[in-house]
Amino acid sequence: MCGIVAYTGKQAALPILINGLKRLEYRGYDSAGIALTSESETKVYKAKGKVANLVELLAGQEDSLLLKESTCGIAHTRWATHGSPTQENAHPHASPENQIVLVHNGIIENHNQLRAKLKADGYEFLSETDTEVLVHLVDSFYDDDIYDAVIRALKQIEGTYGIACFAKNQPGKLIVARRGSPIVIGMGDQEAIVASDASAIINYTRQAVYLDDNDIAIVQGGDIEIRTLDDSLVTRQASEIDWSPDAAEKGGYEHYMLKEIFEQPEAIRNAIRGRIDVNAGNAVLSGLSLAPRELVDLQRLVVVGCGTSLNAGLVGQFATEDFAGIPASVEQAAEFRYRNPIVGSRDLVLAISQSGETADTLAAVREAQQKGALVAGLVNVVGSTIARETGQGVYLHAGPEISVASTKAFTCQVSVLLMVALKFARAHRMSHERGKRFAEEILAIPELVERVLAKNDEIARVAESFVKYEKAFFIGRGYLYPVAMEGALKLKEISYIHAEGYHAAELKHGPIALLEESMPVVALLNDGPGKDKTLGNVYECKARNATVLGIITEGDEEAKQAVDHYIEVPDAPLHTAVVPATVALQLFSYHVARLRGCPIDQPRNLAKSVTVE
Ligand code: G6P
Repeated sequence: MCGIVAYTGKQAALPILINGLKRLEYRGYDSAGIALTSESETKVYKAKGKVANLVELLAGQEDSLLLKESTCGIAHTRWATHGSPTQENAHPHASPENQIVLVHNGIIENHNQLRAKLKADGYEFLSETDTEVLVHLVDSFYDDDIYDAVIRALKQIEGTYGIACFAKNQPGKLIVARRGSPIVIGMGDQEAIVASDASAIINYTRQAVYLDDNDIAIVQGGDIEIRTLDDSLVTRQASEIDWSPDAAEKGGYEHYMLKEIFEQPEAIRNAIRGRIDVNAGNAVLSGLSLAPRELVDLQRLVVVGCGTSLNAGLVGQFATEDFAGIPASVEQAAEFRYRNPIVGSRDLVLAISQSGETADTLAAVREAQQKGALVAGLVNVVGSTIARETGQGVYLHAGPEISVASTKAFTCQVSVLLMVALKFARAHRMSHERGKRFAEEILAIPELVERVLAKNDEIARVAESFVKYEKAFFIGRGYLYPVAMEGALKLKEISYIHAEGYHAAELKHGPIALLEESMPVVALLNDGPGKDKTLGNVYECKARNATVLGIITEGDEEAKQAVDHYIEVPDAPLHTAVVPATVALQLFSYHVARLRGCPIDQPRNLAKSVTVE
């Protein structure tokens, strides 16, 4: 969840590294650092807080030749795991006299034992990090061959890592390695830029090589040699990154989150483009390579994911049971592997992940594979670990999602899950006619979203009335229950208001005890089955003096009368109404957070991609 960027080549490294850090800042942002090396000098610079603080520190040293001329360096933006976010704990970490300098993502589990041993050997520790253990360990094996020292050190490591490092005596040579934490090498003309995430390299090159677990690469200028931990030479195919650099810019919006909310019609169009065959009344998901027999024999769908992806999974569960008649469940990926799940060769485990790197989801994938289940991924980031390890699935094509709070990934996930449900339904019990209508309902989603986005100013005005609250409930039922969950998650993530999502029927089983004037309720009241029952819950809330915001179907006078504030969303069947209703709540949360002055794209303590357990 931290960010790594490294460069070796013919250009000045500093601007490339700083640029890369800014791109990666969404992954971790409590401290940042950079190390540069040349024939005559090697230095490490670190600052607590955002990358801007590091830039300020460097600006004070403008006369340094190293800063101007070094063509090789490594950099890091941190999200603390071991040790608080201080300058000492920031990366890069270095061994005595900067002999070895290293940045690291991941967690070294046996750091305590290794630290004790290194201390006994005379190493002094300046930080509380597990990474400093690794750099001293490499140093302890170093005998003028950095590759050899790294490989020997990594063999002693338990845990996960993505690393980039160099030795002061071998400027221009980078060693990068991965186990459990992604590393991508962007290839240029006599230069290479390494990063933990493709968004840091797309400004320089689209040609990228993704390391596999246990790979170690020696990168010097444009030469890349990849070996495995057992020292055998391997070839990893280069692939083309299909994002444009603009896709990772704010493009005039105040925040990435707002930009990403507004990108949703296009993102969803990209997610469904070429994948709907209206005439056949079916979805064409070529990446989901289940044989016709496997489709017919499919016994169960088990969706796994975390956070927003888990909420999207609920919609997939409901739609699969509803339309395909296949039993479906959603599991928190973090629990899946620990409770000995019962899955077999006729069950499809579908892992949902925007980043494709979430540690718990990846572990669930591996567990499902061990158990012989069919496993597929529903992933946004092409070439990510879950995408590669599942080997089959459906890419979201949502483009890069930079803001920590997930928006367009959710609506694309829901759109893709509806296509998956359609495909399963057609192989099971859905008629051709219903299939055609279902296909058209999916195709209509982008326009439904556009109509909600057109109400942005109106939603901003509604948000003004909610800025003062410190807590809120979100309620919904059926397909709107996941929307309540996702709405509450968005609000708490970015505004720091304590928000909880409940099934509307659960209100009476506890939460209602908390209702009072200071506890507003957001009710999902779209027209359709269940609306009248949720309206009943709204009256119960009103009777306890709670202010109610209703997400209602356009023109629903009854719902308007029942609530204090409302946002109207277009009429649609509930399985697709999920998307516009969620978009309305994304905008609502965004404006509440903006009015409260919160750091929307980088909320405290959160990280975009949680690559540790
Ligand atoms: C983190 C992010 C969430 C995201 C979750 C799952 O917690 O802050 O926004 O929903 O990880 O991420 P994934 O990349 O697997 O969808």
